[in-house]
Amino acid sequence: MSDLVRIELRPLGRTITVPAGTRLRDCLFPFGVEFPCGGNGRCRRCRVRVLEGSLDVTGDEERILPANELEAGWRLACRSIVRTPVALEIAQWEAAILGDDTVFQFTPREGQGIAVDIGTTTLVAQLVDLATGEVRGVRSALNPQAIFGADVMSRVEYALTVEGRQRLTAGIRVAVGKLISKLHAEPGLAEVTLAGNSVMHHLFCGIDVEPLSHYPFQPVEDGEQRFTAAELGWAALGNTRVRFLGCLGGFVGSDILAGIFATGLSRADELCGLIDLGTNGEMVFGTRERLVCASTAAGPAFEGGRISMGMRAATGAIAAVTAGSNGLVCEVLGGGQPRGLCGSGLVDAVAHLLDRGVILTSGRLAGGLKTTLLAEPVSLLQADIRELQLAKGAIAAGIQILLERLDATVADVKQLYLAGAFGNYINRSSARRIGLLPFPEELIQSAGNTSLLGAKMALFETCDSGEVTSLTEHVSLAADPEFQDKYVEGMRFPSCEEFSDS
Ligand code: FES
Repeated sequence: MSDLVRIELRPLGRTITVPAGTRLRDCLFPFGVEFPCGGNGRCRRCRVRVLEGSLDVTGDEERILPANELEAGWRLACRSIVRTPVALEIAQWEAAILGDDTVFQFTPREGQGIAVDIGTTTLVAQLVDLATGEVRGVRSALNPQAIFGADVMSRVEYALTVEGRQRLTAGIRVAVGKLISKLHAEPGLAEVTLAGNSVMHHLFCGIDVEPLSHYPFQPVEDGEQRFTAAELGWAALGNTRVRFLGCLGGFVGSDILAGIFATGLSRADELCGLIDLGTNGEMVFGTRERLVCASTAAGPAFEGGRISMGMRAATGAIAAVTAGSNGLVCEVLGGGQPRGLCGSGLVDAVAHLLDRGVILTSGRLAGGLKTTLLAEPVSLLQADIRELQLAKGAIAAGIQILLERLDATVADVKQLYLAGAFGNYINRSSARRIGLLPFPEELIQSAGNTSLLGAKMALFETCDSGEVTSLTEHVSLAADPEFQDKYVEGMRFPSCEEFSDS
């Protein structure tokens, strides 16, 4: 039997004991250390610092981490193996988990049901009384697949081998099963409905994701999938019906289908839209007559990824920036000195720096600067602004192409719903200022976890997936000859004049 070693986690104040020779990757994820590139040594965001004891430096770390960081004790958790007791400083993050308590109309039915939102990062399940619509319980958890990468493409890459796919499928089924058993362990549950993006849908259902790894990114099988609980290994629930709602095409999954239920887009008389801003931006616009949807690879900037001092919205992150009389005022989550900048802070900072002429409409820092300080020690680099431009350009191009398909313009949109956690926290005025969401502020509404709400509504017979699917056309942006031009055009920031005129 191997020796046990203690790992003290600071500032968390927890100590864990693991067998000597354990990879940090295998034991730190539950404590909030993330592995955005799936442990491939590309992102450096799994860094931990050795405060006491030692961790051997690997060749990869020598290549990836600067000498002064190695000297200061920084290591990559995805590369490190613990052999002797250590105390580690970990950058802990907590995923924002959105529940839902929206009241909606439904036709009562007997029994109880469970709705689950399978997000790339988090899982949320609600137990619903189908006779009253009342939510009887909520459970949430991190998606265990996140250890293999933060974004959907890392998961797809990992799942290209049969073993990888089976591991991701088994892991997510077990995790959802545990959530469900905490809510309702007995047989007699009427139904479970699940919603998630296309990759979550495929991985949960055990469908090959290879077609999603390359152009034209068209899944072979993306319709609604039905199981019994027993087939998924949830033996206690016996033959309870489990439905994973169908996708709308490409990377537009059933999270958006559920979002259409939740926002009533398919019954709207006037033009409305729903956007889920993330690494993969998904969007749908239309009315009861016709809906068009698309997804666009926005990159990780909205989640603080590929930003020099970027981080998730966790303690120490600059999450909001306002204009003060003596310069910018940065709001740090949890107070204290900032450690980095999350997506909402990035959007705010760029909006204010545009107003002050520090950033030009081209995205260049004025005066040829390469960096500008936000709050010690957090600076914004020229390259960071470029990352945000790439993300916003992709979203802007998607919006424009979808509206053109509907023979409409931004001015015709009467309501825009923002789904998900980032949509909840982003400052609408800043989003408008940088040209990310070119709609009047009063028309932009944070809609919360529309995937969960829609999955809940789908427990009742009143929601017809088939009707929405037949109304919705999936647009492949990659195949649109104008996408590239619109993308480049969308990267530019509006000038002060253009912004005040809009
Ligand atoms: S470098 Fe990306 S997870 Fe370790």
